[in-house]
Amino acid sequence: MKIQLREFDVLKSTNETAVAMAREGAPEGTVIVAARQDGGHGRMQRVWSSPLGGLWFTVILRPQIDPQFAAQITLLAGVAVAKAVRRLYDTESVKIKWPNDLLLDGKKICGILSELQLDENGVVDYAIVGIGVNVALSAADFPAEVAATAASLNASLHKDFTCDQVLAAIMEDFGILYDKWLLLGVDVVMKEWQKLNCTVGRHVLVKDNDQVIFAGTVTAVDEEGAIIVRNEQGIVQSFNFGEISIR
Ligand code: BTN
Repeated sequence: MKIQLREFDVLKSTNETAVAMAREGAPEGTVIVAARQDGGHGRMQRVWSSPLGGLWFTVILRPQIDPQFAAQITLLAGVAVAKAVRRLYDTESVKIKWPNDLLLDGKKICGILSELQLDENGVVDYAIVGIGVNVALSAADFPAEVAATAASLNASLHKDFTCDQVLAAIMEDFGILYDKWLLLGVDVVMKEWQKLNCTVGRHVLVKDNDQVIFAGTVTAVDEEGAIIVRNEQGIVQSFNFGEISIR
């Protein structure tokens, strides 16, 4: 993948700018980075606080794939970020929590928000992958509601990397994995995801809009990115939406 970097001091949301640029025909590999966002958003319509010191960026992709496999892009992005951060920071403590949170010792250091746009024929027009990494935030930078569950890489791992260095490391892994995925299919991603995740085998509560809708043990994640959960009665359900809390 050929990368074209578009850097901004401030944007409302790099995802929104990416959608606008993708609609205008921006090529695959366009990466939109903002030093801060004043309207960043996360999953479930949540606000994503994005002050200076964090890495906020979105990648535009134009994969020629069946849309049913598009959720694999989120798994792929989680793997790429996890591998890059592990390598750069020389740690094995970064793990993936389904579907796309990166945790360091159980605390969130990165969130990923992808969107897919199909054309009028149902063919993928573009996908955007928005990635937020807490690189050099201080405790005071986190809003009260996430202060207990979020962490920043530099502070936690006693390193001093810049957002540019972290971005370069992530895009290196992202580009390699994306090209392999297009060429060889999802197996390459799933193999790595299985190694890096902290979800399979755990007892979880599956939530939709903060309501618990199922409880059980995660037995696997399928190729469409859904988790398979078995409850105590042996009932098995798969979920490709919502979020989980790990018990
Ligand atoms: C989540 O965990 O809820 C996903 C968070 C995604 C945040 C990133 S920061 C860059 C991009 N721009 C946004 O507005 N959101 C994503």
